Amino acid sequence: MTLSLTGVTIDIAGHRVVDGVDLEVGDAARVGLIGESGSGKSLTALAVLGLLPDGARVGGSIRWDGRELIGMPDRDLARLRGDEIGMVFQEPQTALNPIRTVGRQIAESIRIHQRGVSRAEAWARAIDEARRVRLPDPEGIVRRYPHQLSGGQRQRVAIAMALACRPRLLIADEPTTALDVTIQAEILDLLHHLVDEDGMSLVFITHDLAVLSQIATDAVVLETGRVVEAGPLRTLLRSPASPVTQALLRDATATLWRPGGRA
Ligand SMILES: Nc1ncnc2c1ncn2[C@@H]1O[C@H](COP(=O)(O)OP(=O)(O)OP(=O)(O)O)[C@@H](O)[C@H]1O
Ligand SMILES: [Mg+2]
Repeated sequence: MTLSLTGVTIDIAGHRVVDGVDLEVGDAARVGLIGESGSGKSLTALAVLGLLPDGARVGGSIRWDGRELIGMPDRDLARLRGDEIGMVFQEPQTALNPIRTVGRQIAESIRIHQRGVSRAEAWARAIDEARRVRLPDPEGIVRRYPHQLSGGQRQRVAIAMALACRPRLLIADEPTTALDVTIQAEILDLLHHLVDEDGMSLVFITHDLAVLSQIATDAVVLETGRVVEAGPLRTLLRSPASPVTQALLRDATATLWRPGGRA
């Protein structure tokens, strides 16, 4: 199944914050959406899921599996989310409810999309999903509340929720940015494994080219809402054409060479 964005624009309060974005994600593709802070990465992703903030206006075309998503009724979009397209949000706090156990939240994301699954069955599956994202002591951890987990564990819960219904596409918005380098590497490795196992496609959002080079094969570079460069990541790394990509590459190289850095 293919996701195609063509000439996507987003206006908020009279400002064009995303300006004509083209992006294509084919079957089992791993595409990075990269750019500096404020370049429009998150809004582009939210537009796909129909989750833009109130008052935002979206134009152009967003097609998933041939269907136009812009203007699709909320009910249909809600079904698509989680079922066909999973998302890990930039702020895991926004995805997790502080007053419900993480197991209940994973179980609910299963039951929302698969009617007829009993509570007991959903709970048992939540434990399996916790195991699948390599949470320690899955039976115990599902009974805990989000604040009782580490940042990396919460991110694993958010991934489990996004993938519980085995979507065909995962959009992960800066899933490792808030984490320290060791945990970051573990989460990247986990995502690699899960994407492979399910044969999913992936849109990975980051401002860090070093991170992206560990997970994506293609990249789209955004600057103030416009695509400035796109193509195979290897080409971008070897001969970055735009000043933005060159700057991102300098930052990434600095990280890799810093003592204790990713290299
Ligand atoms: N709710 C909102 N109301 C008004 N403007 C917004 C809103 N959300 C985002 N913007 C603006 O739209 C632009 C793009 O925002 P977006 O969140 O997509 O950037 P981003 O690339 O994800 O940045 P970051 O790397 O910091 O997450 C920014 O200039 C931002 O200020
Ligand atoms: Mg963002």
